[in-house]
Amino acid sequence: MPKISFSREKKVIECEMGANLRQVAMKNGIQLYPGMKKYFNCHGLGQCGECRVHVLKGMDGLSPRGIKEKFRIAVSWFKFGHEQEVRLACQTLVNGDVEVLTQPEFNWFGERVAAKKAAE
Ligand code: FES
Repeated sequence: MPKISFSREKKVIECEMGANLRQVAMKNGIQLYPGMKKYFNCHGLGQCGECRVHVLKGMDGLSPRGIKEKFRIAVSWFKFGHEQEVRLACQTLVNGDVEVLTQPEFNWFGERVAAKKAAE
């Protein structure tokens, strides 16, 4: 059974192969949503982007990004930062051990802009 390590909460939770990351987190009292977003979110439809987690280890143990998730991240008016390591928990299935950071810090410009500025 895969293990999910929630680094902010310092909790390790075992789950079924192919379990939905958001559902596992919620079942175990892990708060994915910051502040009032715990009430105002899309409830797992992949629309709001508020369930994002930063995958620190084990990206290979997660299901590939689907079209809905790719689209949601691509069209965001804001950028998450660490775009390559960010997943939407509601759209992610766990197939192997993974370590995630819930509620990653907000990054208005994302890494692409930061990388451009660094290159200048
Ligand atoms: S709960 Fe809204 S995108 Fe995951």
